[in-house]
Amino acid sequence: MSEITVDGEPLPFVEGQTVAAALVAAGRVAWRSTRVGHRPRGVLCGIGVCFDCLLTIDGTGGQRACLVPARPGMTVTTREDDDE
Ligand code: FES
Repeated sequence: MSEITVDGEPLPFVEGQTVAAALVAAGRVAWRSTRVGHRPRGVLCGIGVCFDCLLTIDGTGGQRACLVPARPGMTVTTREDDDE
């Protein structure tokens, strides 16, 4: 099984999974919060429409986790800074 790094921690994934699928499979259903009200967000639509699943992948912010296939060595940062 391959791994990505999420917020500095290794996260295993199965080939073919998106970053979102890997996160959810690991039990992580929310990885950012809304600017107003700090409500948790993760996967909603799962098809790239709602933008609820945004995070930073290999230094590029605003990536939709539900669309990006996980690749070995990928570095993912969740968006803890949404209220800035
Ligand atoms: S879950 Fe809707 S865009 Fe990713």
